[in-house]
Amino acid sequence: MTWLITGGAGYIGAHVARVMTEAGERVVALDDLSAGDAARLPDEVPLVQGSSLDGELLKRVLAEHAVTGVLHLAARKQVAESVAQPARYYRENVGGLAALLDAVAEAGIGRFVFSSSAAVYGNPDVDLITEDTPCAPVNPYGETKLAGEWLVRAAGRAHGIATVCLRYFNVAGAAAPELADTGVFNIVPMVFDRLARGEAPRVFGDDYPTPDGTCVRDYVHVADLAEAHLAAARRLSGPEAGGDLTLNIGRGEGVSVRELLTAIGEVTGDRRPPVVEARRPGDAPRAVGSAERAAAELGWRARRGVPEMVSSAWQGRLRHHGA
Ligand SMILES: NC(=O)c1ccc[n+]([C@@H]2O[C@H](COP(=O)([O-])OP(=O)(O)OC[C@H]3O[C@@H](n4cnc5c(N)ncnc54)[C@H](O)[C@@H]3O)[C@@H](O)[C@H]2O)c1
Repeated sequence: MTWLITGGAGYIGAHVARVMTEAGERVVALDDLSAGDAARLPDEVPLVQGSSLDGELLKRVLAEHAVTGVLHLAARKQVAESVAQPARYYRENVGGLAALLDAVAEAGIGRFVFSSSAAVYGNPDVDLITEDTPCAPVNPYGETKLAGEWLVRAAGRAHGIATVCLRYFNVAGAAAPELADTGVFNIVPMVFDRLARGEAPRVFGDDYPTPDGTCVRDYVHVADLAEAHLAAARRLSGPEAGGDLTLNIGRGEGVSVRELLTAIGEVTGDRRPPVVEARRPGDAPRAVGSAERAAAELGWRARRGVPEMVSSAWQGRLRHHGA
């Protein structure tokens, strides 16, 4: 077995590459390095620099490395950017996936795992989001993930590819400081960035109908998420392989923004009170995913909690930026 990991030099992709190689799987990474860092990859993982939109390159990589399964993580992922540049997001996220699925079908590869997102749900008014909760994304990024899932399942049916769509909730933490998220698009690195500039963290609305008035989310450690990919890859290689699976990847537990800021204060020692600003349009009061289907289908559950997410992310921050 050789697994192609697209987006393998990215924050999550590099964690997946590490977990897969540590488990004895052969891996090749494809990344255009638009947001990735080749140094994140384990030494034994070859990196092909190029785009998932390049059909000829994809054919060559699949053949030269005798790829037997694909983990597709490469995508643009910034919600605000997707609102400003929707055609680019459809072209790169959906177009890149279409080119890849064509190459996969032509090569006769029968295993495909797709990085989806809780953004496919939009803002459902439910306590716990299950995979059967209707999808109604509220921005082009989420739309490209939902359209991507449709395309993955349709290609799976058309070409006999067994597929798994993993809907990640809020990803945080790092398995090692050098693998940390260096962007500032997710809440933990965003707060670190504010603190480093001597500014108080911001809370967007504290009058939501939640226990402490701030928004509640489901945070999952990136090391747990990487293990979910290994479990999905194993499932696709085992006796129960076949058909399509769509799974939430979260902890099934809600953590409020205030609770997260308290955890960050404990780790950084910077406990300055947050400034409360107006609600942001489109923010749901609560978005927590049921983790039961992933447990039942993959035998996978997240093991690491918020303190480990925050402290490992902080170690990464110190490594990349200093205190
Ligand atoms: N980080 C999160 O909280 C989160 C949550 C839900 C879903 N996701 C999804 O997980 C995946 C990985 O996210 P991440 O946080 O690691 O982001 P990231 O930006 O760190 O990684 C994405 C990688 O893909 C590469 N890439 C982008 N477009 C490419 C293309 N067309 N061809 C080849 N390489 C390309 C980038 O260079 C980067 O290395 C994405 O599909 C994202 O939508 C992330």
